[in-house]
Amino acid sequence: MSPLETEVWPLTAVLDEGVLRLGGVAVTELAREYGTPAYLLDETDVRSRMRLWRSSFADGDVYYAGKAFLCAALVRWVEEEGLSLDVCTGGELAVALGAGFPAGRLLFHGNNKSVGELERAVRAGVGRIVCDSAVEVSRLAAVATAAGTRQRVYLRVTPGVEAHTHEFVSTGQEDQKFGFSVASGAAAQAVRQVLGEPSLELLGLHAHIGSQIFETAGFGLAAHRMVRLLAEVRDEHGVELPELDLGGGLGIAYTDADAPLPVGELAERLRTLVGKECAAVGLGTPRLAVEPGRALVGTSTVTVYEVGTVKELPGLRTYVSVDGGMSDNIRTALYGARYTARLVSRPSSAPPRSVTVVGKHCESGDVVVHDVALPADLAPGDLLAVPASGAYHRSMASNYNHVPRPPVVAVRDGASRVLVRRETEEDLMALDVSRD
Ligand code: LLP
Repeated sequence: MSPLETEVWPLTAVLDEGVLRLGGVAVTELAREYGTPAYLLDETDVRSRMRLWRSSFADGDVYYAGKAFLCAALVRWVEEEGLSLDVCTGGELAVALGAGFPAGRLLFHGNNKSVGELERAVRAGVGRIVCDSAVEVSRLAAVATAAGTRQRVYLRVTPGVEAHTHEFVSTGQEDQKFGFSVASGAAAQAVRQVLGEPSLELLGLHAHIGSQIFETAGFGLAAHRMVRLLAEVRDEHGVELPELDLGGGLGIAYTDADAPLPVGELAERLRTLVGKECAAVGLGTPRLAVEPGRALVGTSTVTVYEVGTVKELPGLRTYVSVDGGMSDNIRTALYGARYTARLVSRPSSAPPRSVTVVGKHCESGDVVVHDVALPADLAPGDLLAVPASGAYHRSMASNYNHVPRPPVVAVRDGASRVLVRRETEEDLMALDVSRD
């Protein structure tokens, strides 16, 4: 038995004569029992990352960003491990509340929450609602007034920081749909607006600069600008806001080329920086909040696929087709994301050769992994595992080409259990009322 060498694989992943074992269970066994493709989630990996974040931000709040992957079991783990939860739609809110999560530890994001969603959140007693526009501040104030409550809120602020990441997941810069710009004065105006609403209690400011970030510089600059804004709020209104939420975005390793920042280092850096800057402007240090999604669940999961065909185009490329694709992982097609893959169902001493792993969808952009080295004797029936599949895979999965979505199966201590079952063709047809 040998552990897998890199940060790309889940904590309990080991190789046993060429067969990958997760949580003490062989993936060949899991594939037999649950079919392929399947998302295999290492519960120990998730829980240990949750503990690490919790202890790294022991004097703050860690909101798991549920958009990365959410189901009732995960909600319970978040609660058991002492974290809080960030939801950003009525649907995510429903999953959280349905699983019995304490509403006071929920944070509700979104740039276009409906009045209905706001009403549900206020009624449920959601701890903090992050206001994203002037229209929403008025809407929420009216909803809270009607409910006879005072709702605690954050304001989402755009600190003008360009995070070095894909433009689709970069959110700190000026030109974008989220939040109130600091530079234009919109943030200061929003603070005035909220402070003028008796049914709202402004607890703090929030910034999220982007996702899959590897450097502390962007987080540091955002923190610096947010502290300056807190000082301006104090100067104008005589109010010291007690909380500061610096969002999520810490990157994970998808391939060996990625070197993620240790969370302890990020926490230390942010704490020191915020503490120092607050002291410099005579502010008490606010309670810090962070919202990791990918960094908590991304590495926990591998997708296991079965190889269906191997097609060699002489002088061009070898295509390995698997039984899933862009419906279970849109990230390669959408962001040009890089992944790795490994043969996990048997040993092979064949020399590696570079292939492209593609899905079964009717679209040539349906690539799972570009240019990955796999044994030259790879054949139909072999199982391939793609690691780092835990964040934004199942949660962004689709039914393109009427392909049912794979199950999420948790493994731990030699046992497995289905968290989210495989979709069936009946599930897909159930919505099609035109058949009646
Ligand atoms: N907080 C806010 C306000 C966010 O918008 C996000 C992510 C997070 C926290 C969590 O970010 P994380 O720690 O997971 O990077 N679908 C893309 C990622 C989109 C991120 C959207 N917002 C992907 O697959 O890379």
